Amino acid sequence: MAVSFLPCFLILCLFPTISFTHTESGMIGVNYGRIANNLPSPKNVVSLLKSQGINRIKIYDTDKKVLTALANTGIKVIVALPNELLSSASSNQSFADHWIQTNVASHFPATEIEAIAVGNEVFVDPKNTTPYLVPAMKNIHTSLVKRNLDKAIKISSPVALSALANSYPPSSGSFKPELIEPVIKPMLDLLQRTSSYLMVNAYPFFAYSANADKISLDYALFQENVGNIDSGTGLKYNSLFNAQLDAVYAAMSAVGFNDVKVMVTETGWPSVGDENEIGASEPNAAAYNVGLVKRVLTGNGTPLRPREPLNVYLFALFNENEKPGPTSERNYGLFYPNEGKVYDVPFTARSAFPVNGKGDEVPVVSSTSTFPVNGKGDEVPVSTWCVSNGEMARDRLQAALDYACGEGGADCRPIQPGATCYHPETLEAHASYAFNSYYQKNARRVGTCYFGGAAHVVTQPPRFGKCEFPTGQ
Ligand SMILES: *[C@@H]1O[C@H](CO)[C@@H](O)[C@H](O)[C@H]1NC(C)=O
Repeated sequence: MAVSFLPCFLILCLFPTISFTHTESGMIGVNYGRIANNLPSPKNVVSLLKSQGINRIKIYDTDKKVLTALANTGIKVIVALPNELLSSASSNQSFADHWIQTNVASHFPATEIEAIAVGNEVFVDPKNTTPYLVPAMKNIHTSLVKRNLDKAIKISSPVALSALANSYPPSSGSFKPELIEPVIKPMLDLLQRTSSYLMVNAYPFFAYSANADKISLDYALFQENVGNIDSGTGLKYNSLFNAQLDAVYAAMSAVGFNDVKVMVTETGWPSVGDENEIGASEPNAAAYNVGLVKRVLTGNGTPLRPREPLNVYLFALFNENEKPGPTSERNYGLFYPNEGKVYDVPFTARSAFPVNGKGDEVPVVSSTSTFPVNGKGDEVPVSTWCVSNGEMARDRLQAALDYACGEGGADCRPIQPGATCYHPETLEAHASYAFNSYYQKNARRVGTCYFGGAAHVVTQPPRFGKCEFPTGQ
């Protein structure tokens, strides 16, 4: 035991940040809102979702047609108990039981309902339904327990960022004092006890639009920018989205809840707005959503919770022509009602970050290339390695590195602080190490040393100081 204890101990010491390379990457879903009179049938919507690789959606009710169309499709669904029913659900356990039976249990498991949003943005509901929220959540949970569905189906309630009194800098995030005792603490306690998560609706668009003179558009749209340092923690933020999420984490910590996770149940950017809705435009909406999807699929969390994958539902699937309010409200859709794209957003890791690009860009080096070396006619396989080619902007190279170490499954432990390949501490060297690990792991198959053009194959073993690049042979 003593013999094996020491190396294990050393490994733990050397690689304290090991686990980020093994977190599962985040997931992307889409909100399927239906406040419109011109949307395709639920059946056609299911085909659209499938064609786009969208396998998680959130709806705002428990519409029977929609839930039936989603049966046996493999698409996971978050359903909702509307705010109008909170009062009944809070005061009447039989009502909650009956609601679960007719709206959830009768569809499950053919329709993969994975969570129930109990109410939506309840604290800003003009009908003052806040006092009913936690009692309703408890009754709904009790109904799920009775049917033994509570492990499969989580309960939560989407909270708007307006629940925060403070969000800047992120580390000073705090909930509005008047909400804390009556509803925030009891709700977080329930979420913690049921292993659920806080649902948050976060719109950097609103913050940007109201403060366009102070907030840079690049920072709001996941573009390259100098970032903002949080004076409380010294952590650097490269996106308003990250800053908003960490304000929520900080607010939860401030009321004693450090381990409740966050799911972003709505976020988006409008492609059209009124004149005073600064920032609403199609290119901005495309940049936001494309940037967000890439951000989520690279697998890292926020500066305060770097190992927590981001789970995000985009708002929304369609432009919804019957939504009231400013023009932006009717223009958050990724698709027009005729199913045409408002702009292009790739929803899967493969399309968001093509490891294997178009045919003509793939280096033609096959893992099975052979090369006669000893004159006897024997064919000896030639080793090849994969390195960064220095032809990519830093942010894209970083994204490629994140992809390789995250979803790509490369072994990035040697480039963690203190490990053999940490030096030289350059993005280029770290990326090369990660790309090579990914390439070797994939048996040096054609196209696995590409990374959107960031990498190329070499035939000499790369070497940086003591760092050796593994090869498959
Ligand atoms: C409670 O809910 C049940 C089932 O929906 C209903 O039949 C009953 O009338 C409700 N009770 C009250 C007091 O509202």
